[in-house]
Amino acid sequence: MRIVTGSDHGGLALKTALVARLRVQGHQVVDVGTHDAASCDYPDYAVQVGRAVAGGAADFGLLVCGTGQGMAMTANRIPGVRAAVVADTFTARATRQHNDANVLCLGERVVGPGLAGDILDAFLGANFEGGRHAGRIAKFTALEKA
Ligand code: RB5
Repeated sequence: MRIVTGSDHGGLALKTALVARLRVQGHQVVDVGTHDAASCDYPDYAVQVGRAVAGGAADFGLLVCGTGQGMAMTANRIPGVRAAVVADTFTARATRQHNDANVLCLGERVVGPGLAGDILDAFLGANFEGGRHAGRIAKFTALEKA
């Protein structure tokens, strides 16, 4: 899969580990930054990742900050992005199956690297179920034009 990743300083270590893991698994990864530990602003990276996913340049996005929250709040302002903050494998699967989430947001200060890897595997391994879920997504997607 084509995966675009981003983090701020608070998510750099976890993102770096997950990028390496994704590449070992054979995914094509584009990492938009940040690339060093200097303090920076999470919206700058969430916007780049969100636009890449919404525009079709990537299949999925991965955003990591301290909590995942700021990344999701920012990315979800981009039409076409469905970003989910996830801290367990059940939600990782369910948000793909029911919400067709296309950006996974993780908190480095919330989940350890082992669990984060499992969450990422669960997210990428699940498929959108469509059906009744598609109509619900259409309802909230319509708000992008309201
Ligand atoms: C940075 O200190 C922190 O606020 C950021 O990484 C993130 O948790 C925001 O949502």
